[in-house]
Amino acid sequence: MDYHSEFRRSIEQPEEFWQEQAAKIAWFRSPQTIWQPTDNGHGKWFPDGELNTCDVALDANIRAGRGDQKALIYDSPVTGITRSYTYNELTREVARFAGALQARGVDKGDRVIIYMPMIPEAVVAMLACARIGAIHSVVFGGFAAHELAVRIEDATPKAIVTASCGIEINRVIEYKPLVDKAIEESSHKPEVCIVYQRPQATAELKAGRDLDWSDVMATATEVAPVPVLATDPLYILYTSGTTGKPKGVVRDNGGHAVALRYSMSLVYDAKPGDVYWAASDVGWVVGHSYIVYAPLFAGCTTILYEGKPVRTPDAGAFWRVCQDHNVNLLFTAPTAFRAVRKEDPEADQLRKYNVSSLKRIFLAGERLDPPTYEWLKEHTGLPILDHWWQTETGWAICCNPVGTEMMATKPGSATVPTPGFNVQVLDPSGNQSPAGEQGQVVVKLPLPPGCLTTVWGDDERFRKTYLDVIPGYYSSGDGGYVDDEGYVFIMGRTDDVINVAGHRLSTGEMEEVIASHPAVAECCVVGAHDELKGQVPIGLVLIKDGATIAHDELEEELVEMVRDKIGAIACFRQAMVVERLPKTRSGKILRRIIRQIADGEDYAVPSTIDDPAILDEISSHFRR
Ligand code: COA
Ligand code: AMP
Repeated sequence: MDYHSEFRRSIEQPEEFWQEQAAKIAWFRSPQTIWQPTDNGHGKWFPDGELNTCDVALDANIRAGRGDQKALIYDSPVTGITRSYTYNELTREVARFAGALQARGVDKGDRVIIYMPMIPEAVVAMLACARIGAIHSVVFGGFAAHELAVRIEDATPKAIVTASCGIEINRVIEYKPLVDKAIEESSHKPEVCIVYQRPQATAELKAGRDLDWSDVMATATEVAPVPVLATDPLYILYTSGTTGKPKGVVRDNGGHAVALRYSMSLVYDAKPGDVYWAASDVGWVVGHSYIVYAPLFAGCTTILYEGKPVRTPDAGAFWRVCQDHNVNLLFTAPTAFRAVRKEDPEADQLRKYNVSSLKRIFLAGERLDPPTYEWLKEHTGLPILDHWWQTETGWAICCNPVGTEMMATKPGSATVPTPGFNVQVLDPSGNQSPAGEQGQVVVKLPLPPGCLTTVWGDDERFRKTYLDVIPGYYSSGDGGYVDDEGYVFIMGRTDDVINVAGHRLSTGEMEEVIASHPAVAECCVVGAHDELKGQVPIGLVLIKDGATIAHDELEEELVEMVRDKIGAIACFRQAMVVERLPKTRSGKILRRIIRQIADGEDYAVPSTIDDPAILDEISSHFRR
């Protein structure tokens, strides 16, 4: 079938379309109802189906004869370890850890927070939760204790699974003190904390609460997957919104399995036995979907890489992994290849390795800038495929549907809407924008399977943020346009979310941290363009009358505060003291104009501005 027919069918006959896709995964009870509308275009997929996500990922592969095939390869240049697990081996580990959790009272529907580095035990813990119907919430290891505390408070987990440390380039980060601090800060206290001890650091265990991973595994018995409803939550993944409180995106079991299985065929054209490598982190949505779940749903071998694109040890790291493990499909963020290109502009490292197994390279997480696209295309000679998605959707909203029909690529475009996603671009009054004209990118409801079902504990926030902005549509928060051939170009966020090295962060959250400094009267954080990381946050700060702190001392303190409260990954390194902030007459800070000034772009002075002279003052600060 060609792309256009496939897309049309997914929109015009969604129930038949998704019923067919649902038949490709293992159910305990096949769904009789495919779509159950609830309200205003929203609803539930496969409401009466029963399955187990871990069964689809592991046991079903064993039943299909893939027990001795590699399921997971762990490649860790920061420790020098490479280890692999067959489907049989991974299933045994997972079933055993599931038993260990169950023995500690963790049951269907209970939450488990996983705060771990990129080690196989993180994957085992996620799949073990799925096996017993517990809801995991993985927190990225780069987040500081306070961020972890906010998530503990919101998800109220029965258990936390962690490791003694993570390993960054030339630096060991002890996790346990962060976990202890987070539990202390949170009013909710988990009953148990299971700690995987790594040789690089030994965590102190608190009697009565903390247990050693190896001890619980030694006494655990393997358990079978428990049936859950398709609509039961599989996981909560917190993502940055426009306020300081992160949103807990809730993903269900059934829609997720069906959508990701379909995506492996359509978006990646992956076959059972293919080696699939998503060079991301299990703490992000890319890691959830394409390190852990989807490659296993499709019977592939997945790679868990504990390293960086550069400096572990050099810019040849990605090519080395591709060669060593015969990677067929590679997926990462453009920033990773910008880092490689910066250190190895002529791609000399690429020529040192045999990467002939590689068929396609996929990029997402931020806009794929045309120079990075061209560089990759020229040096690898492979199809370089941009695709657009979000934590909320869990899989690509726009892609090059290579499994159905490979479309010509256009630099800067994520290609075309993925079947299931009725993507449209609307102007400020909610009318469809003409081809080539920028507007807000939305998806006409219903969303296909696999997308968020609600925000954990706050259905009202879910509706207000995503469904009520333009009734009948999902608001993506991204701006962009569709050209006259139907290609979608995503140009960036229209809200206060920024993208730093493929990591999604909230400027509002940074503002809350900065505003808590005793010398700060008012502040604003914008994402300024950065050659390597795409964007970096820059703070503009107004000092309180009478405060005598030196400007560079204040900057240093603010940088440290953001690092301490949010984490080093925020990359907040610059805070400028200004006399005034540009505002509208109604008092709204003109963030977009500040961003344009920071990027050296032309800007139009809005008629609503309180005092246009402030813009020159701000510009002079950026020129200094
Ligand atoms: N745990 C603890 N700290 C972490 C961390 C983790 N898991 N990940 C990053 N950090 C820290 C880093 O050590 C660094 O700290 P520093 O300021 O003390 O040096 C800081 O956070 C910033 O890290 P990072 O953004 O990784 O910057 P970098 O300069 O070390 O590396 C890149 C730049 C481009 C190589 C790196 O950002 C990268 O690999 N990006 C790809 C991101 C990605 O895969 N995103 C997933 C979306 S698909
Ligand atoms: P996250 O939820 O962390 O995956 O971040 C989602 C955001 O990243 C989107 O809303 C976009 O702003 C941006 N993004 C992801 N993929 C792309 C892409 N291919 N092109 C442009 N922006 C992207």
